[in-house]
Amino acid sequence: MRVGVLTGGGDCPGLNAVIRAVVRKGIEVHGWEIVGFRSGWKGPLTGESRPLVLGDVEEILTRGGTILGSSRTNPYKVDGGVDRIRSVLAEQGVDALIAIGGEDTLGVARRLTDDGIGVVGVPKTIDNDLAATDYTFGFDTAVHIATEAIDRLRTTAESHHRALVVEVMGRHAGWIALHSGLAGGANVILVPERPFSVDKVVEWVERRFERMYAPIIVVAEGALPEGGAEVLQSGEKDAFGHVRLGGVGTWLADEISARTGKESRAVVLGHTQRGGTPTAYDRVLATRFGLHAVDAVHDGDFGVMVALRGTEIVRVKLAEATAELKTVPMERYEEAQVFFG
Ligand code: F6P
Repeated sequence: MRVGVLTGGGDCPGLNAVIRAVVRKGIEVHGWEIVGFRSGWKGPLTGESRPLVLGDVEEILTRGGTILGSSRTNPYKVDGGVDRIRSVLAEQGVDALIAIGGEDTLGVARRLTDDGIGVVGVPKTIDNDLAATDYTFGFDTAVHIATEAIDRLRTTAESHHRALVVEVMGRHAGWIALHSGLAGGANVILVPERPFSVDKVVEWVERRFERMYAPIIVVAEGALPEGGAEVLQSGEKDAFGHVRLGGVGTWLADEISARTGKESRAVVLGHTQRGGTPTAYDRVLATRFGLHAVDAVHDGDFGVMVALRGTEIVRVKLAEATAELKTVPMERYEEAQVFFG
């Protein structure tokens, strides 16, 4: 059997750990040949691939990024895209695919399964916003990076008695903001799920200043002020219809300065959150996902995604996993509000 593997969408620490597990178990346990497709769905569209042997996955467990490259290619936006994938797989003798990705990559995987191509999905995203799994790998690493940044920013903020606004990733879901904000002891956490009142933020900031502390505000890139709109870096849409967000942190820091008369600075963590070596938790989760994806292919169980439920890895329908995003429930956000101000 020949099995293809690809990584799509934004990269994320732990992708190489999944690839390694797929190659090791696929070859050593089942005697398969593994084919690595380059740059997400672009690989099966163009035929850009290479065989992956045991030597290719030595020493990649700890490495960030993806040895296969990634892209946001959408085959359903390419004329005859699905037929091209079908013929590339036939030409290369690939019987099944393991697609590692977030909502967009796995949305394509679901549609391809409906179109008769055997795909098993593996959930990745630092945003942790995929439904049907308790956690995605990459999230723990991103939260660690953001928390470390908050810890560092706190000491400099206190030295200068400034407000520091830390902008983290999260287009539609505020999981990184919530977890890093809680772990870093932020004085305000703002998430896309709950439009915020600038007056209220200013009140919390002032309260913090009164107690001679420097306020730390963690804001997700997709958070928006009440009655306002998301702050965009570019209105241009990618192949999945997403605009580029970014800038809410700077906007908010300026508002805070203007309304409080106190110095305020913004720091955008950006792609730092996606780079570098995965945490031990993410390495283990990614490895287990890879091993279980191989089992699903071996069982001929296509159209499923491997998922974490409690401590167990289970299989869920891709349709269920991609039906809606997993956003932060209001009761979880309200838990954190105890620490605001
Ligand atoms: O991986 C998802 C994500 O982290 C989003 O939170 C963010 O908006 C997006 O990626 C940015 O990715 P890129 O700059 O690669 O388009």
